[in-house]
Amino acid sequence: MRKIIAFGASNSQHSINKQLATYAANELEGVAHEIIDLNDFPLPLYGIDLQKATGIPENAVAFSKLIEASDGLIISLAEHNSNYTVAFKNLTDWVSRLEGPVWKGKPVFLISTSNGKRGGMNVMEIARKYMPFAGARIAAHFSLPEFKIHFSPEAGIINPELREAFLQQLTQFKEVLLTESTEIEATRIG
Ligand SMILES: Cc1cc2nc3c(=O)[nH]c(=O)nc-3n(C[C@H](O)[C@H](O)[C@H](O)COP(=O)(O)O)c2cc1C
Repeated sequence: MRKIIAFGASNSQHSINKQLATYAANELEGVAHEIIDLNDFPLPLYGIDLQKATGIPENAVAFSKLIEASDGLIISLAEHNSNYTVAFKNLTDWVSRLEGPVWKGKPVFLISTSNGKRGGMNVMEIARKYMPFAGARIAAHFSLPEFKIHFSPEAGIINPELREAFLQQLTQFKEVLLTESTEIEATRIG
């Protein structure tokens, strides 16, 4: 069975993006998942001088190994001032100093949400443009606007049109996930 990693790109203990990532992972039938929390990978603020002095922290290595061992990722982006949260950017900066691309060519279902009307679409645009340069294969994407209105902890996405659009993207991700990991396996065996 394929296994994915899912997380909210936020260090909030009450992250709405962690909730959305968890919901998406649970909706993905027939695929095993692990929900991770960026708070479990505390890291000092990246700086070249610090890296030279102390090397790359173990938590960056541990995160990178988790990505490597997965078949794909669900990442839900929180938006701070139209951009990545500091926690997510800092983590990717540290991981980018290791060998190889940060996202290791894995298929990614990129999602975002906020309580605003754009649902984190600014950070989504940035991520869609630049994460591929860091080895992300963005297989599907979806932004949920007005989280407070359109999401319920019991029922998930409650607006029918938004739920439909979300499920269509989830199915697309699943197709890519199954196809691409089969290809990777075939290459390994071959
Ligand atoms: C410093 C800061 C900046 C924010 N900037 C934005 C923003 O640019 N766009 C937006 O839609 N929401 C913004 N918000 C609101 C966040 O979307 C909201 O805090 C959301 O809960 C963050 O996701 P999380 O709960 O997964 O951390 C901002 C919040 C903070 C604390």
